[in-house]
Amino acid sequence: NPEGIAMSRLEPNTYIKYSKIHENINIVKKRLNRPLTLSEKIVYGHLDDPINQDIVRGESYLNLRPDRVICQDATAQMALLQFISAGLPQVAVPSTVHCDHLIQAKIDGKVDLAEAIKTNKEVYDFLSSACAKYGLGFWKPGSGIIHQIVIENYAFPGALIIGTDSHTPNAGGLGSVAVGVGGADAVDVMANIPWELKCPKVIGVKLTGKLSGWASPKDVILEVAGILTVKGGTGAIVEYFGPGVETISATGMGTICNMGAEIGATTSLFPFTESMVRYLESTNRSDIANASRKFSHNLKADEGAHYDHIIEIDLSKLEPRINGPFTPDLMTPISKLAATSKANNWPDKVSVGLIGSCTNSSYEDMDKSASLVKQALGAGLPLKSVFTITPGSEQVRATTERDGMLGTFREAGGVVLANACGPCIGQWDRQDVPKGTPNTIITSYNRNFTGRNDGNIATHAFVASPEIVTAMSFAGSLSFNPMTDTITTPSGKPFKFTPPTGSELPSKGFDLGEDTFQHPPAESSGIEVTVDPKSKRLQLLAPFKAWDGKDYINMPILIKVKGKCTTDHISMAGPWLKYRGHLDNISNNMLIGAINSENGEANKIRNQFTGEWGAVPDVARKYKAQDIPWVVVGDENYGEGSSREHAALEVRHLGGVVVLVKSFARIHETNLKKQGVIPVTFANPADYDLIRPDDKFSLLGLTDFAPGKQLTVRLTRKSGETVEFPVNQSFNNNQLKWFKAGSALNYMKSH
Ligand code: F3S
Repeated sequence: NPEGIAMSRLEPNTYIKYSKIHENINIVKKRLNRPLTLSEKIVYGHLDDPINQDIVRGESYLNLRPDRVICQDATAQMALLQFISAGLPQVAVPSTVHCDHLIQAKIDGKVDLAEAIKTNKEVYDFLSSACAKYGLGFWKPGSGIIHQIVIENYAFPGALIIGTDSHTPNAGGLGSVAVGVGGADAVDVMANIPWELKCPKVIGVKLTGKLSGWASPKDVILEVAGILTVKGGTGAIVEYFGPGVETISATGMGTICNMGAEIGATTSLFPFTESMVRYLESTNRSDIANASRKFSHNLKADEGAHYDHIIEIDLSKLEPRINGPFTPDLMTPISKLAATSKANNWPDKVSVGLIGSCTNSSYEDMDKSASLVKQALGAGLPLKSVFTITPGSEQVRATTERDGMLGTFREAGGVVLANACGPCIGQWDRQDVPKGTPNTIITSYNRNFTGRNDGNIATHAFVASPEIVTAMSFAGSLSFNPMTDTITTPSGKPFKFTPPTGSELPSKGFDLGEDTFQHPPAESSGIEVTVDPKSKRLQLLAPFKAWDGKDYINMPILIKVKGKCTTDHISMAGPWLKYRGHLDNISNNMLIGAINSENGEANKIRNQFTGEWGAVPDVARKYKAQDIPWVVVGDENYGEGSSREHAALEVRHLGGVVVLVKSFARIHETNLKKQGVIPVTFANPADYDLIRPDDKFSLLGLTDFAPGKQLTVRLTRKSGETVEFPVNQSFNNNQLKWFKAGSALNYMKSH
């Protein structure tokens, strides 16, 4: 490679391709003949075919070649199982797996980690051996949260990263376009297939001024969330620009990008800044810092670039904000919180303050919070709330331990949890408040939907900067404004915090702490990936059957779904999460939330051969046992919600071959195609009403299946009478090959 700069110190043989990005940008610029935004430069810089790719923002589907794939342990299981079943020897792009989601917070970091290693041994062993065998880096439990590790080791300005976690955009703080995706997309890229993304729109956020006092990067995104709301970023990249960007640290920009997920944005992104250079240098990447400085003309928007929407924020005027409860876009400036909280009857007592998580656990965050704790300790002021600290990575933990911050937190009575997601993903054995009791918690995390942290729907969770969370934990009251209010110390004296201070980066450099990374070995042919056939949590995938070349004739309709049917209705989360690596076990949740049009009930359908009523997965299993394929009929926007591929895999696993609906959510439609199921839509939506639950369903025209060509549905009534109507399908030539082979993976394997 002419540039010769390794993408990561952990992967000395993978190189940054700045010249390729540059070449692509030039091709696209000539074609479009207009200035480009930064996100366009990075996205188009990774096009598979920049010469012929159709490029219309918000319309075309782009085929892209990401630099890297990252997976967390909950989603990596199915992604790796699918990759294994593709039969390829090694992943095609640098990829890593991070053990962060399965560690439950209960006592403290050390004890909880030891417990998690025992409880999840089988899953960790599988991930570790599969990573070694197929060439992925493996970050062991205790190493930290995926997004903190990625910004410390893998992100760089101009990179395109995809990750099987919605807060992957965190890497935008270091100038990467980093997008959260489903496991099936990750598998495609690992198998060298281009990644498809709808050409994003671009929302510009112009930052002017400079943060000061109590205002922090978190307040920037809390403000943006308040303006754009939870849906406002859908289909768009949020791109920051303006003189204010130069005043924020790289990890602070990471916080802002991380929480962009809360407004539904594809990702968020910052242009190249000197703070990125400082961060790269302090994490031993001076070579990348130099290369990106030389490339910096491509790491900012062109003069006159067009944004679909622009927001302007003056950082100098920003006051701290607290968002919540129950939704991250309900924004209240701290000066108005006491009155708003009273008016809404939110519980005033702050039961728990939680700092850290992937959103806010940088050295700077920890240092600023510790500066407040030191003030309180000096004044003899005790904590009034339970106070927990989640370091984002082993590197942050070791460095903040060495530099005394963690000692300061402990001295005040704080509990340092494991370097893991913990309470942020509901892995929290919370003891202080019984379930059902209304109470208030305040976190420096990103999501605060009902029940997310502790499974208690009565918990009012608020989101704020770690500094505000820390101050609130000493006040113990939601009406407290640290900028103006005093707290009375046990000696009777009034105490007022002075604004927090902290260093952006450790002056003594980072301490890497314990080595928790497993490199993929140079030679892996002798490595066995073992999955116990008796396991309840893991199961190797068997390839689905290839198409037999004939039309589908006289199939039963498993369920005709009425109304909303999201991926949660098709494959519920919650307690089912533990079966994410076991397709047969998790299939016991297939469509159990969908409403049957025949009786208006969930999870109760008629077996069309015996007439008996049963649960959806049970009836499907009975058909499967007799080798009878079946069909699902659905309503509008079928499969909206998350990109989880289990919603498609389960249907295929239990014998579903066709899903006919009024309209699809795009990702679910693609996921069905990937698993060899045919998604079709009514040419005339009113034909939905023609379908009776006991009709026999045939799909005709498959022998001439071609892009853009309608297929025909024939219903055979009990009386023998038949009804026919046309249906639409959106297969392209490549997707047709998936169908014929039985699945995208089968096709991949045979070519
Ligand atoms: Fe983990 Fe919460 Fe971040 S679940 S990845 S710490 S959003």
